[in-house]
Amino acid sequence: MNRPLQTTGTHANDAANDQHPGTAALRQHPRAEFRIELITHIGRRFLMDSREQRCFWERHIASWSDSAYHKTKRLPLIERAAQPFRKHLPLRQRLAVDIVSNSDAASVLELGCGTGDFAVELVRRSQTLGNYLGIDIADSAVKRAREHVLAAAGSRVKAEVRAAAVEDLDPTSLPFFDFIVVLGLLPYLTDEGLERLSAIGRGKKYVVDYHPREASFFNAVHAAYRTAKGYPFYRMFSDAEAKELMSRLGFGPYNLISRGPLRMMQSV
Ligand SMILES: C[S@@+](CC[C@H](N)C(=O)[O-])C[C@H]1O[C@@H](n2cnc3c(N)ncnc32)[C@H](O)[C@@H]1O
Repeated sequence: MNRPLQTTGTHANDAANDQHPGTAALRQHPRAEFRIELITHIGRRFLMDSREQRCFWERHIASWSDSAYHKTKRLPLIERAAQPFRKHLPLRQRLAVDIVSNSDAASVLELGCGTGDFAVELVRRSQTLGNYLGIDIADSAVKRAREHVLAAAGSRVKAEVRAAAVEDLDPTSLPFFDFIVVLGLLPYLTDEGLERLSAIGRGKKYVVDYHPREASFFNAVHAAYRTAKGYPFYRMFSDAEAKELMSRLGFGPYNLISRGPLRMMQSV
């Protein structure tokens, strides 16, 4: 089950609003009170909640994945228009497959595995992989991933794909793994999701990417695309913020691979 989530910051702000003497005085004026209600309502729209991501990705993942990785002809117009801006995604996948297969990992956990495109390549390429577990919040992604990954894995690799939000995972109930893969997921994790990621992955070998927060043509186009598609919330990080985040979450030092809009952190 996916719990309703609120950011700690919002709780703190609510409490501050209720206790601040100036706010209490303002509340006595009906027009001011209406304004506060309106602001609170707008603020709520920006609260991070993994249920919104689930609803969104349930509808979106098939066309996103086809547009990113497959030469599918029948795509919605907006996904076809987005294709030229997604060339870094097959590259991200190739680099991540290289990194994990060269690491001699035997057990891999992938969070936000989508339709399983990375895993299919990994089980084909890796000489050492024995176990793979992929987890994604969207049932529609999991259904497709399960079909493709299990077919590629055959009897050589023990592969499993589960539906769950990172926010709902119990780190103690996950099987042992020696490498964690997190591609295209950081923008969609709530604060609770990041904490759970830390509990699951700290101290492990990893490959994790983030979307750089910077002024660029790519980011302007991406913002327009997200608005048109109705993305629930989307987190970007500057290089310094990503470094601080990874250290706060307990992930060890990394090499940063930086190519266009791609920022991939490979544990060292
Ligand atoms: C941009 S896609 C990336 C998919 C895949 N990793 C790839 O690189 O092709 C983001 C994926 O993260 C999943 N996702 C979003 N929020 C999630 C959460 N809180 N827990 C688990 N999966 C989540 C979505 O369902 C979607 O499949």
